[in-house]
Amino acid sequence: EKGGYDHFMMKEIYEQPRSIRDCMRGRIYPKTGKVQLGGIKEYTEKLKNIDRIIIVACGTSWHAGLVGEYLIEEYARIPVEVEYASEFRYRNPIITEKDLVIAISQSGETADTMAAIELAKEKGATIFGVCNVVGASIPRVSHAGVYTHAGPEIGVASTKAFTAQVTALTLIAFYAAQQRGAITQSKLIEYLTELNEIPDLVERALLCNDHVKEIAAAIKDTNNCLFLGRGSSFPVALEGALKLKEISYIHAEGYPAAEMKHGPIALIDEEMPVVFIATKNSSYEKVVSNIQEVKARKGKVIAIVSEGDVDVKNMADYVIEIPQTNEAFVPLIATIPLQLLAYHIAVMRGCNVDQPRNLAKSVTVE
Ligand code: F6R
Repeated sequence: EKGGYDHFMMKEIYEQPRSIRDCMRGRIYPKTGKVQLGGIKEYTEKLKNIDRIIIVACGTSWHAGLVGEYLIEEYARIPVEVEYASEFRYRNPIITEKDLVIAISQSGETADTMAAIELAKEKGATIFGVCNVVGASIPRVSHAGVYTHAGPEIGVASTKAFTAQVTALTLIAFYAAQQRGAITQSKLIEYLTELNEIPDLVERALLCNDHVKEIAAAIKDTNNCLFLGRGSSFPVALEGALKLKEISYIHAEGYPAAEMKHGPIALIDEEMPVVFIATKNSSYEKVVSNIQEVKARKGKVIAIVSEGDVDVKNMADYVIEIPQTNEAFVPLIATIPLQLLAYHIAVMRGCNVDQPRNLAKSVTVE
């Protein structure tokens, strides 16, 4: 049932080329530049007229929401707020009929997320669910939605559900962009053509596994680890840190790379591994200078870089190369080595990867 893998988590990591493909199937038409989302079609007029989107979610799904914020603001030009579902409902939030609330949940049963959408619904907002489990409570309470179609996720630490959530949010961003006239048809064709290649690039990114395992062996005894990234790689850093804490019980934190100098830099010494997402995109030069700051304090740098990178390779202790892609899709690729890193470290430390202590697959208490 684990398909030849030692753990469900590894099986699910390797399923990602397929699960991302399944999430896009029948929804994108790169040749004509069309996005079709049957689950929200009836709400297209609404989507054209809303003033704001509020994304509510917990844990890994909240990280997917942060990536969604970048994509929706960048391409559809709709203001987005991303909220922890548990915080949202306890502060008398301002919600009107002109708001769209998107609830992201793998299980579709998370109590905090469920309570947040019930409150938003009472106040007249339109609710979209981005869920994996078909027919679960959140999709049933939502007005409309986009299923992620990642297939059952057994490992408690979410992997393929996360990349499918990011994919679904990418589709929503481009659908909204198209409907609101925020993107030209030729640009859309360009983006959808690249998006269509992402499953192949994820397949290629998985080839880093043996190398990631060697890096895992080198840092597995650390007590702490930092993850840094900028732009939409910041939520990827948060997700990398969460994966590591959940399954290996190593204290890890994710930060926007530029925030390091406002505090966390005090933690850096020769014992501290710092994982950077340093792919070739608009913030590359800035990230390079953040890496220099860590090296100047003798931190151990592990960098996720684009294939063919030279500058970071000369500075970092370890580099992991991933295929180059459009900035919009970097989170889908850069997440892969971080999942593998957490997995191998946890296995080497003898942890129960599929069922980490104190955690449950679906959190139905508030
Ligand atoms: C992380 C993880 C949790 C869940 C969170 C939300 O690996 O599994 O952080 O992401 O409990 O769960 P869902 O998405 O089911 O609402």
